Amino acid sequence: MQLSTLTTPSLTDVETAALAVGVFADQALSSAAQTLDEASQGAISAVLESEFKAKAKSHIVLRNLPGIAAQRVVLVGLGKKEKYNTKTHYEAENQFAKYCVGANLDDVVSTLASIDCAGSSLRTRARAAAQAVIGSTYRYDATLSKKADPIALNDFKLWAAQTQDAEAEAGLREGHALGEGQNFARLLGDLPPNVCTPTYLGEQAKALAKEFPEVSVEVLEKKQIEALKMGAFLSVAKGSAQPPVFIELKYTPAENSDAAPIVLVGKGLTFDSGGISIKPANNMDEMKYDMCGAASVLGTFRAIARHGLNRPVIGLIAACENMPSSTANKPGDIVTAKSGLTIEVLNTDAEGRLVLCDALTYAERFNPAAVVNMATLTGACVVALGHHNSGLFSNNEQLQNELLEAAREANDPAWPMPIDDTYQEQLKSNFADVANIGTPGAGATTAACFLARFTENYPWAHLDIAGTAWDSGSNKGATGRPVPLLFSYLLDQNSAD
Ligand code: BES
Ligand code: MN
Ligand code: ZN
Repeated sequence: MQLSTLTTPSLTDVETAALAVGVFADQALSSAAQTLDEASQGAISAVLESEFKAKAKSHIVLRNLPGIAAQRVVLVGLGKKEKYNTKTHYEAENQFAKYCVGANLDDVVSTLASIDCAGSSLRTRARAAAQAVIGSTYRYDATLSKKADPIALNDFKLWAAQTQDAEAEAGLREGHALGEGQNFARLLGDLPPNVCTPTYLGEQAKALAKEFPEVSVEVLEKKQIEALKMGAFLSVAKGSAQPPVFIELKYTPAENSDAAPIVLVGKGLTFDSGGISIKPANNMDEMKYDMCGAASVLGTFRAIARHGLNRPVIGLIAACENMPSSTANKPGDIVTAKSGLTIEVLNTDAEGRLVLCDALTYAERFNPAAVVNMATLTGACVVALGHHNSGLFSNNEQLQNELLEAAREANDPAWPMPIDDTYQEQLKSNFADVANIGTPGAGATTAACFLARFTENYPWAHLDIAGTAWDSGSNKGATGRPVPLLFSYLLDQNSAD
């Protein structure tokens, strides 16, 4: 896919299969729409008066307008002007890109990013446009007997003023890398659990390292994980015939390679049945998505490797299955974590924190500037926040603010959640240092508080993505979140130097 800017001043002469222009509800035209309306002697305002209400997430296609070279003008609804924001902009680009993909168009032009909106720059709007275009090309067909038709769209141009060419190009490049990283995370999430096993995740990490010279990887197997004394992680893995893997990815920039790294840690449960504390049958298939934290690490690595970053990044993934068997964890078992802490496994379904705690202890060896873990950790987080915001827990205010800013910039929202020490009392065990579940109430927080016991030596944040990593129902599918948030955060850290 070719993504580039188009800086010609005269929109009416642009030869393309489709030209997107934005219109607001209440018939307010964007300046691009106004130009085309004048050239076509009011063709656009006529449509607005008669049939098109310009609601957000709607569009109408006008063909062969007089005085306009483009084959189609696609009016994209932007909703009310006073409510227009970066989210509506992203949705508008997405609306247009999806139409173009569906209609088999191959070269198209969007003017949507030229509309100003609060909290954005042309660069971040161009990033969002490219992200939407690449995202619109995602089609899951890996396990279908009939493959999807190849996508015709191969040339997307973003219309911008000559003076803003460089800014727009930079944004497009970022969005292209982000879109590919996000699509990669989506694919890994969507693949069935008999294909996407821990071993498969290890192979994907190796393939990534092969593709990009700045990325290296080590995939540790059970024996090596035992040598590292990751007793909590191994206790979860031992119930399954699928062997666990521990993945260590490294992104090393050409310059600045000695700087303290940012460490990303992903929960990689390629299937979570609950184990002996088995889950109900309804929707259990969705627990193939319990590796979406791991997928976000791999997706973010693909994005930064493609784009480049002036900052070392480490990616850690603890991958295994949680299954019931005679070798599985039993309620009441006590296991010893890598940190030395003993844990009473009161519920084998609270396994995410068991695999993460050992990866978080392992992270200490990098003297990290910051550690961010991503995990589909608790149903309680979905109860608290639904499917819009990821839960954000942190022991460091600056890191929390940086992540919130990145979340806003990326349209990948997160909401700060409490982890004060008073909740730690809920994790008391009579027989071990800590229990793996809390007493009733604040389930997302007690899970985070469990992790906090292993992250005291560095700035740390935990993103609970249980409600945001995938969509259920007829649109079932991975979202690729929080790759946009993480990519924005890393880019911001990049320029901060
Ligand atoms: N992977 C689940 C969390 C989950 C459940 C995510 C449903 C998305 C949808 C996690 O391993 C889990 O089972 N957590 C338990 C913890 C409980 C036993 C304390 C939960 O949330 O029910
Ligand atoms: Mn579980
Ligand atoms: Zn789980």
